[in-house]
Amino acid sequence: MSEPVLQGNDLSRFYSVSRGAFKPSATVRALNGVTFSLHSGKTLAVVGESGCGKSTLARLVTMIEDPSGGELLIDGKPARVGDRSLRSLVQIVFQNPYGSLNPRQKVGAILEEPLKINTSDDAKTRRRKVEEMMTKVGLRPEHYDRYPHMFSGGQRQRIAIARALMLRPKVLVLDEPVSALDLSIQAQVLNLLMDLQREMGLAYLFISHGLSVVRHIADEVMVMYLGRPVETGSAEEVFANPKHPYTAALLSATPVANPEGKRQRIQLQGELPSPLKPPSGCHFNPRCWRATEKCRSETPELGPEAHRFACFHPLD
Ligand SMILES: Nc1ncnc2c1ncn2[C@@H]1O[C@H](COP(=O)(O)OP(=O)(O)OP(=O)(O)O)[C@@H](O)[C@H]1O
Ligand SMILES: [Mg+2]
Repeated sequence: MSEPVLQGNDLSRFYSVSRGAFKPSATVRALNGVTFSLHSGKTLAVVGESGCGKSTLARLVTMIEDPSGGELLIDGKPARVGDRSLRSLVQIVFQNPYGSLNPRQKVGAILEEPLKINTSDDAKTRRRKVEEMMTKVGLRPEHYDRYPHMFSGGQRQRIAIARALMLRPKVLVLDEPVSALDLSIQAQVLNLLMDLQREMGLAYLFISHGLSVVRHIADEVMVMYLGRPVETGSAEEVFANPKHPYTAALLSATPVANPEGKRQRIQLQGELPSPLKPPSGCHFNPRCWRATEKCRSETPELGPEAHRFACFHPLD
């Protein structure tokens, strides 16, 4: 197989946070021991509840921040903040397209901007490239002279996707790209993303709270809990045969289309613990119905197999 276009080896990112005037500062382990590789044309879904470290991972991969530990390779080369040669290879699309599009710029100008800054294309070439990209993402030529507020949420997300693709990146980080959209529009945008992936050979790092959104788009899944991956594997395996109780709980919260495949709903007990003081042993143990003494005192590691899970009492 070809070399991965994005690779993380034991990535971590810690933040020091103040706890008030007379207390020592504390450390948040926002990301702790994340290893993955992503190939062209493939989608890795990163899934977990709020605060599990998804956006932190996105900030490392887009070279906004450097990791505290571990190594990030983009296109086989070590990536550091400030390395301009790798920067355009990875682009990001955020959840809220309105917040990330300049309301005073017309669509044409928004899409031209990355070309203006990063290429020596003349005005005519830029216009042609913008029009081509608009067609690719399903926008019409007359949209060129309109402002972002004149579009629906789904169309605005198409603009954000087009902008991210203007410099022909190899990797797109999608941070909850459809969660702000109506269900019917979500499906359209997901279909567009899958078409673009096939056409342009893009690799996606797709970040999501829930598993249902990524069911059709993911090739690989990484489930995260309080900064740590707890289960990783092919989407097929993880959906059909979840091993970690946390994954099973996330899946049971997912509506199932097929009435035969009824799932028992697992209610997670308790609140998400504070990331400043994660539970000892397996971080998930206070909310886990299978937890034993061992889970409170020892930390399970991800196994060595292709389908990996960090659990002492995995599901059958
Ligand atoms: N700059 C920072 N300083 C201190 N703590 C931070 C910083 N950035 C993130 N954190 C903490 O790191 C943890 C992970 O945050 P992150 O934004 O990556 O979560 P997330 O999975 O993207 O959550 P959400 O689903 O809510 O977007 C959280 O506990 C957060 O409070
Ligand atoms: Mg986030």
